[in-house]
Amino acid sequence: MLRVLIKDTVGKIGEEVTLYGWVNAVRDHGKITFIDLRDSSGIVQAVDAKGLAKVSAESVVRIVGLIKARPEKMVNPNIETGKVEIEIKSFDVLSKSQELPFPIDGDGYDINEEVRLKYRYLDLRRKRLNRNIRLRSQFVQNIRNFLFSNNFLEVETPLLSQSTPEGSRDFLVPSRLQPGNFYALPQSPQQYKQLLMVAGMERYFQIARCMRDEDLRADRGFEHTQIDIEMSFVEREDVMNILEKMITEVMEKMGQKIKKKPFPVFTYKEAMEKFKSDKFDLRTEEEKKESVKAFAWVIDFPFFEKDKEGKWTFTHNPFSNPMPEYVSDLLQKKNIEGILTSQYDLVCNGFEVGGGSIRSHDPQILESVFEVMGYKKDEIKQKFGHMLTAFSYGTPPHGGCAFGVDRLMMILTGEQYLREVVAFPMTSGGRTAVMDAPSPVSPTQLRELGLSLRKSEK
Ligand code: AMO
Repeated sequence: MLRVLIKDTVGKIGEEVTLYGWVNAVRDHGKITFIDLRDSSGIVQAVDAKGLAKVSAESVVRIVGLIKARPEKMVNPNIETGKVEIEIKSFDVLSKSQELPFPIDGDGYDINEEVRLKYRYLDLRRKRLNRNIRLRSQFVQNIRNFLFSNNFLEVETPLLSQSTPEGSRDFLVPSRLQPGNFYALPQSPQQYKQLLMVAGMERYFQIARCMRDEDLRADRGFEHTQIDIEMSFVEREDVMNILEKMITEVMEKMGQKIKKKPFPVFTYKEAMEKFKSDKFDLRTEEEKKESVKAFAWVIDFPFFEKDKEGKWTFTHNPFSNPMPEYVSDLLQKKNIEGILTSQYDLVCNGFEVGGGSIRSHDPQILESVFEVMGYKKDEIKQKFGHMLTAFSYGTPPHGGCAFGVDRLMMILTGEQYLREVVAFPMTSGGRTAVMDAPSPVSPTQLRELGLSLRKSEK
């Protein structure tokens, strides 16, 4: 007999059906036992009057039973199937569960993080996390639908690649075939997406995994996912407009209330004067309670800032174009502190959720950016020569953006930590969930890669 989903039992009163799922709870009342059966679609009560259902909670079972309407006063208004119950005809335990290491019926916030992540597959059975992961899937689906219906092309770019400057440390992967050489995992697909514009793709997107070895925080992971977008023949407002339309449509489709439309725009200077931060929260206390989403753009950032050693570095993205009125300053390398970039950041409820810019498609401008940062000509050629070469073959003016899926999901679900919206996140100490990484590798693997460890690190 074909499996019936629990949510569909309400429409099948009087039918005998086969249900599969987990035992959510067992209540033994002597002559009869009640089993709450759970599958991905819901929970239903099953009644065993024959002493068949001897089982521990969280075991996986198959129940064949008759769907009956509950008497009026027995209806449970708290569950969707509360008007029916299943009279058990046959009962099979398909996989017995031992006692779980922690309860999964609450929100789980008070349970030790290491334990939750060691048994993440159990933690994910929790209603709150299950919902978060499902919402994330719906969110990405809505984003994809929007982008496909606006003529964007989804293109994958390499994970084993060369370092691209996003301001963090790289995760490196040693090469077996070329010992002593390393790939870098992408901090973002920035350079590849620009090369796709040179290739004539015109509208690109990717739900892209990005890896950055930076200090972990509540809203920052080693790995994160970006909605990565690039468009040709656009100016700053064109990109901002379509991105705003995408975020507004998808958020509203998912039942979210947006504080102000169109999104307010602040210059970096205004934001710093008004909020002393470029990641501000525009919500009133009342709006915080109503989980309103207050989006805003920040524009006109300085292009460069001094690093710890007093050298110029980029504030956001070295591939950005300066605002048109500062191009000649950049080419002449004067007024460096005054040059504004075409960068735009999207903030929401105190988080930076996305950022992008119009890019420099003129090799001379790109070269000047790296020169300002103290790169020698041969260094620029070695690290970014491929971009300069590509830009010498007919490059459309282009610009784009990347949104952090994890941060947007934190905002959408009201979670305080990135790990609550990721299926298998890392611990705050940077160890993987369930599987134990990072971990030592065998001497054979090291030898194959041409690596040896210093004594103190063995
Ligand atoms: P940026 O570095 O600003 O831009 O990243 C874009 C967005 O990605 C999210 N994000 C992160 N989320 C979680 N953990 C992290 N470690 C992390 N790092 C970034 C943020 C951020 O706004 N290539 C450019 C985009 C472009 O110019 O098109 C880029 O990566 O929400």
